[in-house]
Amino acid sequence: MELTLTVTKKQKSFLDATADEVLYGGAAGGGKSFGQVVDALLYALKYPGIRQLILRRTFPELKRSLILTSLSLFPKSCCRYQTANHRFVFLNGSEIEFGYCDSENDVTQYQSAEYDVIRFDELTHFTEFQYRYLLSRIRGVNGHPKQVKSTSNPGGVGHQWVKERFIGHEGVWTAEDGRGRVFIPATVRDNRFLMEADPTYIKRLEQLPDQEKRALLYGDWDLFEGQAFAEFRNLREGYENRIGTHVIAPFAIPPHWRRFRSFDFGYAKPFAVQWWAIDEDGRAYLYRQLYGSTGKPNEGLRWTVQQIGREIATIEARYEAGQSITGIADPSIWDTSRGESVAEMLEKVGVYFEPGDNARLAGKMQLHYRLQFDESGFPMLYVFETCRDFIRTLPALIYDKHRPEDIDTNGEDHDYDACRYFLMANPIAAKRPKPCGHFETDPLDRKVWVIDLPK
Ligand SMILES: Nc1ncnc2c1ncn2[C@@H]1O[C@H](COP(=O)(O)OP(=O)(O)O)[C@@H](O)[C@H]1O
Ligand SMILES: [Mg+2]
Repeated sequence: MELTLTVTKKQKSFLDATADEVLYGGAAGGGKSFGQVVDALLYALKYPGIRQLILRRTFPELKRSLILTSLSLFPKSCCRYQTANHRFVFLNGSEIEFGYCDSENDVTQYQSAEYDVIRFDELTHFTEFQYRYLLSRIRGVNGHPKQVKSTSNPGGVGHQWVKERFIGHEGVWTAEDGRGRVFIPATVRDNRFLMEADPTYIKRLEQLPDQEKRALLYGDWDLFEGQAFAEFRNLREGYENRIGTHVIAPFAIPPHWRRFRSFDFGYAKPFAVQWWAIDEDGRAYLYRQLYGSTGKPNEGLRWTVQQIGREIATIEARYEAGQSITGIADPSIWDTSRGESVAEMLEKVGVYFEPGDNARLAGKMQLHYRLQFDESGFPMLYVFETCRDFIRTLPALIYDKHRPEDIDTNGEDHDYDACRYFLMANPIAAKRPKPCGHFETDPLDRKVWVIDLPK
């Protein structure tokens, strides 16, 4: 029995790639996902007993793309699809399992699993935490290849970390962890199958707004600006020395630092409560959070106001005894147009807030100012690594398509909003750019700005 497949040149490079971590990335329609499926099939046939996991962020995406392609491509004579556990089982003992990781912590369902090869499709839809976690599931003592092979367009929640991990090197290189990585660029013109089947495809990509066009048509990793806080860094290497990262290891907040509690109310959508401290230099630390979500993206716990208030009071009685805390909240919780306001209900359980400043763009700029690193690599805002939801949702915020200066409020922006109210109560000045000249006084007493030219 024979199976004849034709692949593009780039797909061939992907099939041949033996580096520990491979990214085949670039323009949409380049044939990346197809390449992923073919590669998985070839591995399954070539290495009897090999275990592979193919991942997409959500199950519906998985079903309509990769599983569908596999069902039509994989020869029925050598494998069978088990619908209930989304897995192809081959006669030679190989297995290809399909999985997804909707929420940040869904990766823990793979806690006790072992794979030889893990494949991410649309890698930028995943977070760095998820990627690193799954990396640790690759093990075993058989002689099969041990690899992560990923495919992706630029853009998405993980754009920044994927770019930093893979882009900017020629060929295979050895990363800091001693493992080999390679990036294979994809362009839509690589894929003659698509060009022949759908000649208007490129025309349609050309009509996209500029940023998306650059990402999807040219596969450009530099120009994607969709991510609002692309400067946010979660660098594990800096957790202890606090250099080059916004996420750090927790420590005990000194009792004399000023403390704040900020609040964004939500019922069907998550609510966000954050505890902040400010050190002697005015640096802010998000040291605790209470995030009211079910664990599903942007789905709230549906707690009553009293429940939220009591939980805040319990936490503070236990951990903040004797501390004075300034509460700052979304000004809309003082709204009385539908009866008793949320703020009044909270006061009844002993939780007090002052109205925050909801100037959206000013608040956004405050966050940009604070995220900026100084010459030594220290920012003005840190987040304890335990504040998982803040760390998950902030990098996922994207710009609004219609008001390109502001955040798209369809995203999971509750932690961001709570953060803004806190920041607006403690504003800092933008870092001044370094002066590149000086004043001189001329004989007529006019001030003249003299520009220092580089020597
Ligand atoms: N080697 C190939 N042979 C036949 N069809 C292909 C091949 N490579 C890609 N295609 C088809 O081209 C289209 C785009 O490919 P896809 O893998 O979805 O691109 P990408 O994941 O890069 O966006 C799909 O319809 C796919 O089935
Ligand atoms: Mg694809």
